[in-house]
Amino acid sequence: MSGSLPIARDVQALRSAITAWRAAGLKVGLVPTMGALHEGHLSLVRTAKERCDWVIASLFVNPRQFAPHEDFERYPRDEAGDAALLAGAGCDLLYAPERSVMYPAGFATNVIVSDVSTPLEGEFRPHFFGGVATVVTKLLLQGLPDTAFFGEKDYQQLLVIKRMARDLDIPVAIQGCPTVREHDGLAMSSRNAYLSAAERNVAARLNHIMHDTIKAVRAGEPIAEAEAEATRHLIAAGFSSVDYVSIRDAETLAPIADLSAPTRILAAAWLGKTRLIDNMAV
Ligand code: PAJ
Repeated sequence: MSGSLPIARDVQALRSAITAWRAAGLKVGLVPTMGALHEGHLSLVRTAKERCDWVIASLFVNPRQFAPHEDFERYPRDEAGDAALLAGAGCDLLYAPERSVMYPAGFATNVIVSDVSTPLEGEFRPHFFGGVATVVTKLLLQGLPDTAFFGEKDYQQLLVIKRMARDLDIPVAIQGCPTVREHDGLAMSSRNAYLSAAERNVAARLNHIMHDTIKAVRAGEPIAEAEAEATRHLIAAGFSSVDYVSIRDAETLAPIADLSAPTRILAAAWLGKTRLIDNMAV
């Protein structure tokens, strides 16, 4: 329990709170999360509070976006701690459904977004965006907020959710928010808690190497060479392996030949058993 933050455990409780706010003419914002909250999540809550009258955060560790070999079981969970942080950031309601509320017996529907889901994360975590799109569709339809807020930290996820909401005519505005970083540039992530002290030192190199790569391509280095060099630098810095470092069209994530359109660098790399992702505008 949270002390002061009310918690809705099912769709009916969520909808009755929202219906009351709506009837009073208030704008409702939703911040979906899987908990283990940090400043990145809380910045979304604060932005939502600036733009909306009432803010709901959801907390649901979504089993459908983890493959069997991934970290669903050990994903950090601390509902009481999360509720206290949310209350401090101005959140008005926590929506924390049980698994049986989100996926009742006989649940048989999948939301698959093709195209922008396919490359990068889609290649290395083929189950992932189907799980995300399905749960986010449910969260948006359960609450029907005016706006839902997502971090650019998960840039491809943000593009997938925007496409899904547009394609399915879900009447919720999707708002992206900037990545919040530690002082040394490491993007905040619930998974950073898995890092040993030695791995934590190496982790900060990801962001610096991405910055160097941006500088190199801006200075005229061919994109494929800059990507390959970044991978070599990550391994030399102590990363165990690199899934990708890729410079892509910022809207479609298609490979590009030059920097004439808006461009994004995206990377995923492993430190031991921990997988880190990051991205930046080029
Ligand atoms: P989770 O990893 O808990 O992240 C919840 C939201 O916080 C996402 O929109 C994510 O992009 C944002 N976020 C995480 N770290 C951030 C950072 N350092 N700066 C800014 N925003 C950050 O992403 C998910 O959960 C799930 O896939 C979810 C969308 C909830 C569906 O299950």
